[in-house]
Amino acid sequence: MNTILVTGGAGFIGSNFIRYALEDAGFKGRLVNLDKLTYAGNPENLSDMQKKYKGRYVFVKGDICDFKLLERLFKKHRFDAVVHFAAESHVDRSIFGPKDFIETNIHGTFALLETARQAWAGRKDVRFHHVSTDEVYGSLGRTGKFKETTPYDPRSPYSASKASSDHLVMAYHHTYGLPVTISNCSNNYGPYHFPEKLIPLVILNALEGKPLPVYGDGLQVRDWLYVGDHCAAIWRVLRKGRTGQTYNVGGASEKYNIDVVKGICAALERQAPSAANPALKGKKYLQLITYVKDRPGHDRRYAIDFSKLRRELGWRPSVTFKEGLERTVAWYLANPAWVKNVKSGEYRKWLNKNYRR
Ligand code: NAD
Ligand code: TYD
Repeated sequence: MNTILVTGGAGFIGSNFIRYALEDAGFKGRLVNLDKLTYAGNPENLSDMQKKYKGRYVFVKGDICDFKLLERLFKKHRFDAVVHFAAESHVDRSIFGPKDFIETNIHGTFALLETARQAWAGRKDVRFHHVSTDEVYGSLGRTGKFKETTPYDPRSPYSASKASSDHLVMAYHHTYGLPVTISNCSNNYGPYHFPEKLIPLVILNALEGKPLPVYGDGLQVRDWLYVGDHCAAIWRVLRKGRTGQTYNVGGASEKYNIDVVKGICAALERQAPSAANPALKGKKYLQLITYVKDRPGHDRRYAIDFSKLRRELGWRPSVTFKEGLERTVAWYLANPAWVKNVKSGEYRKWLNKNYRR
């Protein structure tokens, strides 16, 4: 692999992946990051990479729905791999307004597939890797885990748009022979996570002495994976995964939401004790927990069987949830300037209009 197109590389997982490829995986070729810079995209996530890998890391601001731009980029850079992260990624936003999810997640994936099909014209030495979610499988009862063979049953506009994009990717493989792989991963957390998602939202609200909103009874279950482990899994599938295959990726770390929130409070008490934080006005972080109205159609439980990835490619998660949470809390404490930046501008306007937090 000489030149990789990464889409959505200015977001949470994409920026961690670019850093992983250049710094940890020893990738020696060129990475082109195509990102529209929506509210969730932040080129600052990679400003150090831009300096360190001048010429080998290239940023392009643009939309994956723009066929002309895609065609130009494929001609200019002669990509031999695509790693497709770009998406609208937040379930709550998809409930408020699904349109952008349909545009980017479905039409954008189609534009990329069609451009790759034409540019690669039957080549077999190339790879289109699509990054997807376990949410396409729907919601589990008390037992069981999602396998690669679990029928799709998406329930939110977000998961429906991701399911649709997964189907398009597989259709391009079966119909046109495009060499594709898909990974369906559970909930990620770690550095550069946008603070509308549960873990960073709770860390930052707690530090400001604001309520920690727990939807419904807080007994929904998610499986959590440290973002660096997800990047390692994607890299492995990209290099060694069989084309036309789907690989589930999970953290073997199923938690009730309420326990995640309590775990964050405990990590904060260790690293930034509430007693020394004037915003807490004498309260403990735990006392900020506030049960709020549930998310409509809230999936009850996700759990992932990643034995195929372990068996075929030898991948397993390396960071425990406890360790990952400590690292994540430490990162947010160490990066207040990043937090201030991403919470300003468009995001602030949207939050003010939609919820009052
Ligand atoms: P994110 O919201 O943090 O980042 C998305 C990035 O895509 C942003 O940089 C944004 O600017 C960019 N983008 C959005 N629309 C675009 C467009 N039309 N053209 C070009 N760029 C565009 O998301 P994330 O959490 O990093 O998720 C990345 C991918 O991983 C998504 O496809 C998501 O479905 C998938 N995924 C996420 C999780 C998770 O827990 N966050 C778990 C499994 C899978
Ligand atoms: P989230 O981080 O939005 O990820 P996803 O919906 O993709 O799983 O939410 C994780 C879980 O936390 C989910 O069950 C919804 C819940 N949640 C809350 O209880 N409060 C919140 O403020 C948020 C954002 C999420």
